[in-house]
Order: sequence, then structure tokens, then C-alpha cells
Amino acid sequence: MIPLRFLCALLPPLLAAPATAQAPRPAATRVALPWPDPPPVAESRARVAAITALGRDLFFDPALSASGREACATCHDPRFGFSPSNADPVQPGGATLEQVGTRAVPSLSYAQFSPAFNEHYYESDEDGDGSVDAGPTGGFTWDGRASRARDQARLPLLAANEMANASPAAVVTRLAAGPHAAALRALYGQDVFTDTTRAFDAVLEALEVFQQDPATFAPFTSKYDAWLRGQVQLTAAEDRGRQLFEDPDKGNCAQCHKSRPAADSLPLFTDFGLVALGVPRNTAIPANRDPGYFDLGLCGPERRDLADHAEYCGLFKTPSLRNVALRKSFFHNGVIHSLHDAVAFYAERDVAPQRWYPTGPDGKVRKFDDLPAQYWENVNEDPPFGGAPGDAPHLSPAEVDDVVAFLQTLTDGYKP
Ligand code: HEC
Ligand code: HEC
Repeated sequence: MIPLRFLCALLPPLLAAPATAQAPRPAATRVALPWPDPPPVAESRARVAAITALGRDLFFDPALSASGREACATCHDPRFGFSPSNADPVQPGGATLEQVGTRAVPSLSYAQFSPAFNEHYYESDEDGDGSVDAGPTGGFTWDGRASRARDQARLPLLAANEMANASPAAVVTRLAAGPHAAALRALYGQDVFTDTTRAFDAVLEALEVFQQDPATFAPFTSKYDAWLRGQVQLTAAEDRGRQLFEDPDKGNCAQCHKSRPAADSLPLFTDFGLVALGVPRNTAIPANRDPGYFDLGLCGPERRDLADHAEYCGLFKTPSLRNVALRKSFFHNGVIHSLHDAVAFYAERDVAPQRWYPTGPDGKVRKFDDLPAQYWENVNEDPPFGGAPGDAPHLSPAEVDDVVAFLQTLTDGYKP
């Protein structure tokens, strides 16, 4: 299921065709619609461009936070694939920037293609079997609890440990007196600030529209894209890495991080599925000092609507791997800090668990230490996982290096 806006992103020549090129339809064939005619193409496009520009300004403006010091871009820095510029697993927030979050900040590049969350997702991709229920898929955040980017934007604006605004009214009041007021009035009505809900929704919409800007968030300009277009060769190591990434008996990464163009899209390196990998607990996250606290993803505690589904505990959304080499913390709890280790974790989780999990006083490795034992059966065991301690890993150390070399071809802005 590829959203229409994605198709549009792939068809710039079509979109760029001047409105005058379309011959007017003869009046006699026109069927009256129950809503007014859409505005002319050029006018709609100008409005989208203006909302995008407003959304960009808002995204980079720290005045949107109660502290006045935290913009969306503070945590989602464009130089790092819209993820943090520092390696801290969780970022500060709150009115005085003294609180911290419980999860790593995901990259926002290519996030716009997340389908709305669905517990029973049927793929219509060319390589997917449309009759198979792929299970919980999509949504925004690591647990998919926000259906659209505009619902998502509400969360950091109002979260006490992020931008920490007391209410939508607090945001709107500040904006009404600030430099974006004129643009908000021009685009959403001169009286927009008389209605808090309307004004706040306008802010959320502008942030969403900006995050759908293809040139900024989904340019498809990586070396791998150039390779797919037949414009460049991969190095020997990159190409070995690509094959390992796709080989179902080796990396098997492409099972979840889709690497091949589908009928109507370039690959996004995610199927947006929610899966449990059993990543190690991150003791650097303050919330984890409480031994009884577990971030269980899809079944809670951030997300509350599926709390009675034990089979969902430990599941987190599969992120796109585009621009992943720009990140400094990996996985939902940011427990891993190098791309090499992120790949090595996959290769060694089951065959060398002592390298990834703490060893208890009894000398036993406490595998899956961030997931209560009753949920261990939810953890994925497909390759590259599987095997017993001491077995050979699905990927040797040299093969891990090759996969990393391949992942480094997924960074946008490649120049031959
Ligand atoms: C204090 C750091 C911080 C700030 C500021 C922040 N975010 Fe985030 N963002 C996060 C974290 C952490 C998550 C993951 C949350 C979760 O999984 O519950 C996230 C998730 C997201 C996602 C979901 C991405 C996906 O692939 O599912 C989007 C979209 C997003 N943020 C946009 C924004 C916007 C827009 C703003 C400004 C209004 C913003 N963020 C401000 C930390 C931040
Ligand atoms: C069964 C599905 C699945 C397979 C197979 C899989 N992944 Fe993942 N990947 C995920 C999920 C789910 C996450 C997020 C898990 C979490 O944070 O708890 C993830 C996260 C990652 C991350 C961290 C990205 C970030 O933004 O923090 C990297 C890197 C990664 N995978 C690389 C790979 C590589 C390389 C392979 C093959 C060796 C692979 N994955 C195989 C589902 C999968």
C-alpha cells in the first residue's frame, strides 16, 4: 500500500506539467459533484509550498517549546537524518530541559511513508502476498500509536519531558504574538487565533506537510539509488554486503528492511512491521533504574490501547535504514552506539549472547534482560538470529563489515 503522495513524489515531470497543458473538459460531460470544484492546480501547489515553508519555520523554532530552547530539530537534526546530533540514548526536555525521555529519537527521513497503524496488515507490494496477514504494522513512533504525522506532532509539543507545553492554548497564545502569526493568518484565516483548536490543528498540519516534503525528507539520492538507476557501480565490499543483506540464509535483513524496488516505489528499507528483537536493556536510561519498569512497546506503557495483548509485548516498529549511517544511537532504547555493533548484535544475539547481555551472579547470561520472561516467546528467531551459544554466526565478522559497507550506501546526497 503506497500512499498516493508517494507516487506523486516519484512523478515530478507529471506534476510539473503546467496547468494550461490540460485541455478543459467539455461542460456537457461533467458530472456535478456534491462538493465545490477543487481550486486550480497552480493555486493548490502554491498553498502546499506556503504551508511547507511555514512547517519548516515551525520545525526549527525553539519558541514552540515551553523552555524556549527546544525545537523539533533539536532532537531531529537534519544533518543526522533528522535524529540527534549527540550520542545520548535519550534526549533532555521539559520546561527547564532537566527531564529526559525513555526512548531513542528515531530518524524522520522516509518516515512519511508509514501507513496508518493496523493490527492486521495485508501487503499489496509486488513481492508481498496480498492474502497474508503481516500482523501489526505502521503508525508513527516506535509503538505505532500515532496514526498520522499530525497526531504524532501533538505528542512532543505536549509531553512533559519533551517540549512541555501545558496545553494547546499555551502554544497558540505564544504563536499569536510571534513571527509566524502572519503566515498562519494568511493560510488559515485572519481569525484563526480566535479558535485554539483550529490554530493548533493548523500548526500540526503545517508540521506534517513539511515532513512530507520529498526534497527534504525523501530525496532518494543515495549511492544505492544511483546503483538502482544504473548510474554507478557498488564496490566489491558494498556489493557483497548487499547480497548478504538480501540472502534469506545469511543476513536476511531484507525480510523486514525491504531493499528492492516494488512495482511503484523505490525501496524504503522497512516494511513498517512491529517486531520483537529482544535488544539489551539500556542502563543509561534513567527510567530503567527502576527494575520493575519495562518499555514493552506495542503493549505499553506509552501505548495503552493494546495492553491486554501479551503477544504484542516487546514489539517495536521496524525503522527505515535509509540514512542509518548518520545515526549515533540505534534501536528503540539507543543501547547500541555504532552501526557495526548494531549489525553484529543480529549476528551474535543467539550464538554469543554473553557479548550483548549481562552475566548474573550465578554465572548465567541474562539474555533478553529488557523483557520479562513471559514475553520471550514473542522474540523473533528467524535468520540472522537462531543457533545455540558457541555455534557459528549467520554472519562472520568480515561479513558484518560488508553489511555495514552496504548500509553506508543508503545515505542521501551521494555525488559520484
Ligand atoms: C526531546 C526530543 C524530541 C523533540 C523535541 C521532538 N521529538 Fe520527535 N521523537 C522523539 C522521540 C524520543 C520519538 C520516539 C517516541 C516514541 O516512540 O514514543 C520521536 C518520534 C517522532 C516521530 C515518529 C517517527 C516514526 O518513524 O515513527 C515523528 C514524526 C516526530 N518525532 C516528529 C517530531 C516533531 C514534528 C517535533 C516537533 C513538534 C518533534 N518530533 C520533537 C524525540 C523528540
Ligand atoms: C524480523 C524483522 C527484522 C530483520 C530480519 C532485521 N531487522 Fe533490523 N530492525 C527490525 C526492528 C523491529 C528494529 C527495531 C527494533 C527495536 O528497536 O527494538 C530494527 C532495527 C534495526 C537497526 C537500528 C536502526 C535505528 O534507526 O535505530 C539497524 C541498524 C538494523 N535493524 C539493521 C538490520 C540488519 C543489518 C539486518 C540483517 C542482518 C536486520 N536489521 C534484520 C526488524 C528486523
